[in-house]
Amino acid sequence: MKPYVYITRKLPEDTIVELTEHFEVKMWNHEDIPVPRETLLEEAKNADALITMLSDKVDKEVLTAGENLKVVSNLAVGFDNIDLEIATKQGIIVTNTPDVLTETTADLAFALLMAAARRIVEAAEYVKGGKWEGWSPYLLAGHDVYAKTIGIVGMGKIGEAVARRAKGFGMEILYHNRTRKLDAEKELGAVYSSFEDLVSKADYVVSLAPLTEETRNLFTADIFSKMKNSAIFINVGRGPVVDEQALYEALKNGEIAAAGLDVFEKEPISADHQLLQLPNVTALPHIGSASTETRTTMIKLCGANVKAVLSGDGPKTIVNKEVLK
Ligand code: DGY
Repeated sequence: MKPYVYITRKLPEDTIVELTEHFEVKMWNHEDIPVPRETLLEEAKNADALITMLSDKVDKEVLTAGENLKVVSNLAVGFDNIDLEIATKQGIIVTNTPDVLTETTADLAFALLMAAARRIVEAAEYVKGGKWEGWSPYLLAGHDVYAKTIGIVGMGKIGEAVARRAKGFGMEILYHNRTRKLDAEKELGAVYSSFEDLVSKADYVVSLAPLTEETRNLFTADIFSKMKNSAIFINVGRGPVVDEQALYEALKNGEIAAAGLDVFEKEPISADHQLLQLPNVTALPHIGSASTETRTTMIKLCGANVKAVLSGDGPKTIVNKEVLK
């Protein structure tokens, strides 16, 4: 019998031919609707491999549902949706999709920064809504990006790619990270800062931090109160690093000027959420890496990881290396 691969979303057939040629492959039959929990649990009982989305909760129940599971291949660079400790304990390899999405996600982060700064979405809706009656000096005036200070929280590969874009805009670059990035300091003039220093000095505070126990609720009311009143907060990392109630208060009370958010505490965010009622919030539906080219490359990488593990070769982008020991 061929090993069984279950994919939790409908993906284009041509992106998974490598898998269908070698394994028995089944997919959840919707592109946009997540696999129901019961289906995932049922499929996990028999699966040798799962290809999962960042919206799937891959917890102990899923990881211990069957006895064949060897690899969980997550279609994202982040893997906070997976209980890594249990996976490792169970000897299950977890893989992600780093590197291939770096530039695409940095493009989105910078686009969101620009959109929030220059009120692009608001201005486009203004024209389409028939509100434009004439030119005036401060009509939809936003904030400059050129020569301002950007503060990047989470200086991984995507953070560095955002910093390269910021350098092109003549920005001063501050960053905060668990480890110093000496190359970025040398090549981009990025300056390592304490978290408190960064949030108080930056005109644009950009969070690219992954979700971990240390980063959960990192951006509290106290942190927003330290930011400049003209600061713009951008989040393209993970929603739960932000206390959303605190962010709402800070935006509403003018403690900060605006926010550009691609990620939220609970996704999808409901249209009546208080944050979405604020005119100074630009919100996107978690599309950081969503270019057609990059998503296709990510899917192929997920397939390559599954194929490698099920064929007894080393996975390309493993997250829990300890499992191989
Ligand atoms: C990821 O890959 O973790 C990103 O959030 C996708 O946009």
